[in-house]
Amino acid sequence: MAAKEKSELNGVLGWVDERFPLMETWKAHMSEYYAPKNFNVWYYFGVLAMVVLVIQIVSGIFLTMHYKPDTELAFASVEYIMRDVPGGWFIRYMHATGASAFFVVVYFHMFRGVMYGSYKGKRELIWLVGMVIYLALMAEAFMGYLLPWGQMSFWGAQVIINLFQTIPFIGDGLSLFIRGDFVIGDATLNRLFAFHVAAVPLVLVGLVFVHIVALHTVGSNNPDGVEIKKLKDDKGVPLDGIPFHPYYTVHDIPAIVVFLMVFFAVLFFVPEMSGYFLEYANFEPANPLKTPEHIAPVWYFTPFYTVLRAVTLSPFMGTLAMFGAIACLFALPFLDRNPIKSWRYRTTAHMLNLAIFAAVFIILGYLGVKSVSPEYKEMGVRMTEIYFMFFAVIFIHSKANASRYITGFIVLMIAIILIDVIRYNGEDPITAAQIKWQWIWPVGYLALTLLIPAFVKSWNTEGTVPERVTYEH
Ligand code: HEM
Repeated sequence: MAAKEKSELNGVLGWVDERFPLMETWKAHMSEYYAPKNFNVWYYFGVLAMVVLVIQIVSGIFLTMHYKPDTELAFASVEYIMRDVPGGWFIRYMHATGASAFFVVVYFHMFRGVMYGSYKGKRELIWLVGMVIYLALMAEAFMGYLLPWGQMSFWGAQVIINLFQTIPFIGDGLSLFIRGDFVIGDATLNRLFAFHVAAVPLVLVGLVFVHIVALHTVGSNNPDGVEIKKLKDDKGVPLDGIPFHPYYTVHDIPAIVVFLMVFFAVLFFVPEMSGYFLEYANFEPANPLKTPEHIAPVWYFTPFYTVLRAVTLSPFMGTLAMFGAIACLFALPFLDRNPIKSWRYRTTAHMLNLAIFAAVFIILGYLGVKSVSPEYKEMGVRMTEIYFMFFAVIFIHSKANASRYITGFIVLMIAIILIDVIRYNGEDPITAAQIKWQWIWPVGYLALTLLIPAFVKSWNTEGTVPERVTYEH
């Protein structure tokens, strides 16, 4: 990027361009960045995530102007924002709805990546950076939820910080270090505030920048999983590519408008979303002497909360399973080794595996907001089993080979039986009888994704990836 003698631009922009790579950057990332022409609706969620990031940063700045990070004042300052600050309710609800919207958008964005194998073909780093973004987002949301200093802020933080205490040897020291005190108090609130408003947002913005640079270095994937850079015209322009600007900048505008319509409809009419976006207990000030009847995290954490509750062998094992559930997602690019990217051309068994995984993730989320009953707890265990087996099955599906499927089926069945032997040891026989039928879920899952495809050829046949993208206009 050398400085130019004479810019193609005039006026102020030309002056800047002779001292800064303005046009070069614009061309490389916008007007001469060739994106596949077959993007579908799933490709809106990246830009929507950016829109929500901006909403969160801007609304967060305005909230910070009135919020007081002090255990004596925090709750009242949020009420003050809601009732007395002009437009304060709007800013606060925007920020709270924005947190949930972020996760809705990011979950769709991630699932798109899984469907189209967007973590393959030198795109592993885009996925890995995305996963770090996801972790940062979870930390950001958790810390933000503590700030209003309501009952759920306090008790939710209590549950999460206590998880770190379950780690052998270092647990006590680590949780003390996180809290900054022997109990959750002013020191905790102040440090979480600092992280929430300064440290994590900075990291997030930096990570999103790296995410996009990594994407633009390799080039976007697409619903067909075709590498468009393989076929270029004599000017070096991919035959199936179109300039990002103006085509996709314009194309994204209606999607942003529709998204904002839904976003503001929620904000104006159901900002608490029946207690799913803002839990009712959080409208009561934090009271360390009164535990709420039912502590549940906000919906976007509940799949992992169910995993935590499902593993009861020891508190540490539960914590390990919960963090393990997130860690497995990091490994996806290295587990799914099939060279075909898009699920369109993969086997029916693979498509089923992804669809079931999405359903199981939603069920895990649903179970996480429910109070524990023996039936729900058992279902949580069975869904957790499927959640983890998904990663083994996606690895097995890397080669559409029947004997590999059967071996995988046998190994995973043995794992389920072993877990049951450990679990049912000493279990109350009546409860066990009521819940045991639920073995049907993991066994059915393995039958659908491994056993049947091993024998039914049409479930285990890969399609042919076309040379060009299939979009016609
Ligand atoms: C603040 C959060 C995030 C923002 C702002 C963001 C932004 C974007 C944008 C603008 C794109 C290009 C447009 C598109 O393909 O949709 C993209 C692509 C991508 N993102 Fe994200 N992202 C975020 C989080 C994540 C997460 C959590 C993951 C996965 C763990 C992820 C994985 C990917 C992948 C694999 C691609 C390439 C998709 C393809 O080319 O098919 N991103 N991201």
